[in-house]
Amino acid sequence: MEQQPAQEKKKIIFSAIQPSGTVTLGNYFGALKNWVSLQDEYNCVFALADLHTITVRQDPAKFRARIYEVYALLLACGIDMEKTLFFIQSHVPAHAQLAWVLNCYTQFGELSRMTQFKDKSAKHADNVNAGLFTYPSLMAADILLYQADMVPVGADQKQHLELTRNIAERFNGVYGNVFKVPAPYIPKVGARVMSLQDPSKKMSKSDENANSYVAVLDKPEVIMKKFKRAVTDSEAKVRYAEGKDGINNLMGIYSAVTGMTMEEIESEFDGRGYGDFKTTVGEAVVEHLRPIQERFERYINDKAYIKECCDKSADIARRIAQRTLDKAMKKIGFVIG
Ligand code: TYM
Repeated sequence: MEQQPAQEKKKIIFSAIQPSGTVTLGNYFGALKNWVSLQDEYNCVFALADLHTITVRQDPAKFRARIYEVYALLLACGIDMEKTLFFIQSHVPAHAQLAWVLNCYTQFGELSRMTQFKDKSAKHADNVNAGLFTYPSLMAADILLYQADMVPVGADQKQHLELTRNIAERFNGVYGNVFKVPAPYIPKVGARVMSLQDPSKKMSKSDENANSYVAVLDKPEVIMKKFKRAVTDSEAKVRYAEGKDGINNLMGIYSAVTGMTMEEIESEFDGRGYGDFKTTVGEAVVEHLRPIQERFERYINDKAYIKECCDKSADIARRIAQRTLDKAMKKIGFVIG
C-alpha cells in the first residue's frame, strides 16, 4: 500500500477467507466478488486466515495444499497484487499477539453468544477447543491491526463484526483513539447464498454433502448436475416469495451473476418450468466461472510466483501490523522492545 498525502488518502478495506475447504459460490458472491471490485477505490488488505482454520483439526498435507490453492484462486478471481495487499495471516505474528491482548478485553459472555461458536461446537462436539471460543478476538485483531474503515463480508460474519466494533470501542474508551472502529460492508445480492440441498442453511464449504454447494473450481458438468438436483418446491412458478427458499436462492444466484433484478428474472421465466430455470442458472454460473478456472490453472502451476507474492505482501503487512500492535501495547503499559 502506498503512502498518500492526507487529503487523497483512500479508505482502508480489510477482509479474510479461511483455507478450510473448497471456495464456494457463497464465498464468491458474499465476499470475493466485492473484494475484487473494491480494489481501485480503496486501499485493500486481504488475508488468507490460516490461523483461524486450525480451530478444526486439519490434515497437514491437505491443509498446506489448500493454502496454495485458495491463494491461487483469489489471484484468479482478480485480486491484483499491484493494487492490493494479500498475505497469509500466519506470516504476520502480530495477529496472534494482538488477539491475546484483545482476549483480555473481551468478555466470556460475549463470546458465548456467538452463533458460529454454538453451531461449530455442536458440529465438532469432540473438539470444542479454546481457539474455537476465542476465534472472534483473533478476527478483531485481524481487522483492527490495519485500521480498517470497512470490512466486506457475507451476512454470516455480521455478528463477529459487531463484536469487533464493541471490542474496539471498549479499548478506545480506556486508552483513547487506538483503533479505527470498522463498518461492515455486506452486499445486497449474494450476502447469504444458501445450500442447494437444504435452502434453510447457508451454503458452506464444510458441508458433508457436496451437492449442497457449488465450488468455484467445480467442473462445468458437475455444476450443471448440482443445479439440476437443487431442491425447489411444488408450485412450479419462478417467483421470489416467502416459503420458496430454494427458488429464492437460485434467483439470488442468477441475479448475482447477471445483475438482473428479481422482477426481471420473474418475467424472463414467466410460463417456463423449474427444469428450464435451473439449466439457465447453471449455464450462467458455468460461463461466469470459466475464465476464473482458466486463470487458476495458470497460477496453481506457478508456485514460485505465489511464494513471491506471499513473501512480498507479508513483509509489508508485518510493518503495518507492528505499528498498531506497538501503539496498543504501549497504551496498556508494556515496555516496547
Ligand atoms: P469464511 O472463510 O467462512 O468465508 C469467507 C467469506 O465468504 C462469506 N461467505 C458467504 N457469503 C454468502 N453466502 C454464503 N453461503 C457464505 N459463506 C461464506 C463469509 O461471510 C466471508 O466473508 N471468519 C471468517 C474469515 C475471517 C475474517 C477475518 C473475515 C478471519 N478474519 C476478518 C473478515 C475480517 C470466515 O470464516 O470466513
